[in-house]
Amino acid sequence: SELPSCSIVIFGASGDLTARKLIPALANLFAHGCLPERFNIVGCGRSAMSHEEFRRHLAEFEPDRQAETSSEGWQRFAANLFYQQLSYDSPDSYRQLAELLNQLDRQRGTAPNRMFYLSVPPALYPVIATQLGPAGLSNQDAAHWSRIVVEKPFGHDLASAQALDQTLHAGFSEEQIFRIDHYLAKETVQNILMLRFANAIFEPLWNRNYVDYVGIISAEKLGVEHRAGFYEQAGVLRDMFQNHMMQLLALTAMEPPSRFKDIQVHDEKTKIFRALKPLNRGRLSDNLVLGQYGPGTIDGREVPGYRQEPGVAPDSLTPTFAAMKLGIDNWRWRGVPFYLVSGKRMPAKESRIVIQFKEVPHSMFNHETAANLLANRLVLEIYPEEKITLNFQAKTPGSKECLHRAEMGFNYERRQGERGAVNFDAYEMVLLDCIIGDHMLFWRQDGVELSWSFLTPILAECESCPETAAKLLQTYPAGTPGPAEAHHWMQLLAN
Ligand code: BG6
Repeated sequence: SELPSCSIVIFGASGDLTARKLIPALANLFAHGCLPERFNIVGCGRSAMSHEEFRRHLAEFEPDRQAETSSEGWQRFAANLFYQQLSYDSPDSYRQLAELLNQLDRQRGTAPNRMFYLSVPPALYPVIATQLGPAGLSNQDAAHWSRIVVEKPFGHDLASAQALDQTLHAGFSEEQIFRIDHYLAKETVQNILMLRFANAIFEPLWNRNYVDYVGIISAEKLGVEHRAGFYEQAGVLRDMFQNHMMQLLALTAMEPPSRFKDIQVHDEKTKIFRALKPLNRGRLSDNLVLGQYGPGTIDGREVPGYRQEPGVAPDSLTPTFAAMKLGIDNWRWRGVPFYLVSGKRMPAKESRIVIQFKEVPHSMFNHETAANLLANRLVLEIYPEEKITLNFQAKTPGSKECLHRAEMGFNYERRQGERGAVNFDAYEMVLLDCIIGDHMLFWRQDGVELSWSFLTPILAECESCPETAAKLLQTYPAGTPGPAEAHHWMQLLAN
């Protein structure tokens, strides 16, 4: 493999994410020959463990991985795993970590390239980021790199996002920082730019002259699960809109970048974030519906309401659903509404982008036929299937003037197994790109701040006082498509 040899350091190594996502992702990359020839994975955490105990802990984490992890492949992979106990605020710990890394480089012939993956609660980001520098761990030179990987939340509002950024920048430059958004690593999401800019036929129609509206939905059946501690402070606007929904919006709406390179793509996205039309704070309910799930039924099973979930305040005003209508102030999109919807405990897990085209300027068909005439629609489906469909009108064979809706489609699943097609999941994708040093699938700080600039006044208004918050928040039974106030928008996005 031509990938640079490196050490991947995971902070929070005894946590769930490491065992459930990161290590399986790395093991799978290894199995596909997609890790560097020489590499070290060093887990760091508060608990004391030997290297061998760490390997065993990972192997035993999930029962269904046992078979796989007893295999020869796992053993070969696990030989690259190491562990270092550390207390996050102790400079000594980081000196010891630096020593271990240098020692591994000497013994195992790895290059001093370092990736620091922060799989820890966000409160620890500043603590770790400011310790790495003084221990010499953020240094890089012309031949060797040091990179830091963080996951959302990137702050709680604009001010805290800027403060977090300052602490990251204390040791690392922007080019060394990788801010994950796992939506960007989804195959269909990456395909948005290919569809738009590798084909000549869509782009001429992709604007206010032909597009009636754009819809973006990401709904899920899951409730808050065990994450109330985080979610109570976040709600759907911070959890989904500030990041995933904004990325989907930017990819759908941005101008063509001059090259398919991270910098150029980020530049164009930034322009979209800058062009978002601020919502009128005094008339929020014209453009925003917030909801919170109450008790209800999912797949025939009764589930508690959000306020009854463990860790949630019985009078919580945290929204678990939002539908937002927003506009983009530029030539391409002037007057075209973008409907963004995301919610928990909805009837189905579904995620898609709908480009709804305008109706024909004049219908020449008889009244009855014209009633069936549906405007063209392009759907980029992200979940449950990864596919693209274009709806158009076709003549029903036989009777003279009868139309029906026909569909052209492309489905990713059918392409699996083709030569060159390897399906990596989101974590595999981001880990690989971080090793390569490609920022395409990550957030750049200016985007993070602009996204917060748009949302912070909305959040401030919604959270200004309990009365306002309560007035804006509608309840919907779990397993239903959100509050009634949003149903007309939901219909626009229906499949
Ligand atoms: C996460 C949110 O970023 O995305 C979760 O924190 C949400 O609340 C999840 O459930 C949805 O991701 P996906 O890939 O399942 O659509």
